[in-house]
Amino acid sequence: MKMVGSPGCSPAGFLLPLLLLEVSTWYSAVSGFSVKGPVEPIMVLLGANATLPCQLSPEQSAADMHIRWYRTQFSPAVFVYQNGQEQGGEQMLEYHGRTELVRDSINRGGVALLIQHVRASDHGQYQCHFKDGQSSQEAIVELHVIGLGSVPHVHMMGPEDGGIRVLCSSDGWFPKPKVQWNDMLGVNLQSLSESQTQDEDGLFHVEASLVVMDSSLGNVTCSIQNPLSGQEKVSCIFLPEPFFPKMDPWKAALAGTVPVLMLLLIGISYTGWREHQAKEKEVKKKKRELNERDQMKNEKEMAQKATEKLKAELEQRKALYLEDWKKALLYPGSICIALFQTGGRNTSSVPM
Ligand SMILES: *[C@@H]1O[C@H](CO)[C@@H](O)[C@H](O)[C@H]1NC(C)=O
Ligand SMILES: *[C@@H]1O[C@H](CO)[C@@H](O)[C@H](O)[C@H]1NC(C)=O
Repeated sequence: MKMVGSPGCSPAGFLLPLLLLEVSTWYSAVSGFSVKGPVEPIMVLLGANATLPCQLSPEQSAADMHIRWYRTQFSPAVFVYQNGQEQGGEQMLEYHGRTELVRDSINRGGVALLIQHVRASDHGQYQCHFKDGQSSQEAIVELHVIGLGSVPHVHMMGPEDGGIRVLCSSDGWFPKPKVQWNDMLGVNLQSLSESQTQDEDGLFHVEASLVVMDSSLGNVTCSIQNPLSGQEKVSCIFLPEPFFPKMDPWKAALAGTVPVLMLLLIGISYTGWREHQAKEKEVKKKKRELNERDQMKNEKEMAQKATEKLKAELEQRKALYLEDWKKALLYPGSICIALFQTGGRNTSSVPM
């Protein structure tokens, strides 16, 4: 058996890649240029102007070339430049009146597409295509649109499952932001639910809820972060202890009252037993017995007074609790309006 027919070993199999290499080098030599775009994505805040640069290499004039910017190969153009001027006919409607070609250095092969008032839909990939006679080259430019939403609004919804349900909401984010709850020590708290909806401009509205079980957490923060720029907006809410159903004031008071009543009962029966014993003993202890009875009476009276005081306090705390809830429902946002930026995280780096 001979291996003559095997493509991997035939002389043609070795020649083919070499041939392709030759062809592409030759092609590049004919076009005489290549195009470079920025290595990193261009980040622009929503509503600002974006400048997407492309550069010919080696430097040469592009003034007489056909330059075409587009999103995907088969879509209409974002911008077309030909015969030394803008050609409007082929342009996508959504870029109409919002684009221009920055030509300050076109004689050295540098151009930039300026997109005014950037929208969420402008986010993504662009290609600049340069054509000179029969040769053409292109490069990719990535545009990242950054939408920083509103400062989150955090408020109490009401008691739930032995805790307090808290809601955090914010508008105007792009792309889809990250939402995080933290306690005062920075420990991550798990959202009960989270929803993100897009409005007609493509911007995200965020709603996240949390059930706080532990009254000792103090202030709880809600942070919403842009995943591309790392910029975030933070709000906090203070959850006062009386708002926690677990810390129900009348339950807590009851927990205090029951042991007191138990002690009283034990005390009474113990004294009864002692009285009985005392009867069986000699009269010589009568004087002391009388003294003890007096003391017992005093103790009973004091205990009764303490119980009445507890009852009154209970009623008062119950009334206060209800009043607090009424206030919270009347002024939901007024409990904690402190805002801060957490340190350590990236909060700059986007051109404003
Ligand atoms: C955006 O570009 C337009 C046109 O060049 C210019 O008039 C406008 O001032 C720019 N806006 C900003 C915010 O730079
Ligand atoms: C919660 O935040 C407020 C400011 O809104 C601050 O005065 C208070 O000390 C914080 N509470 C705790 C327990 O740290």
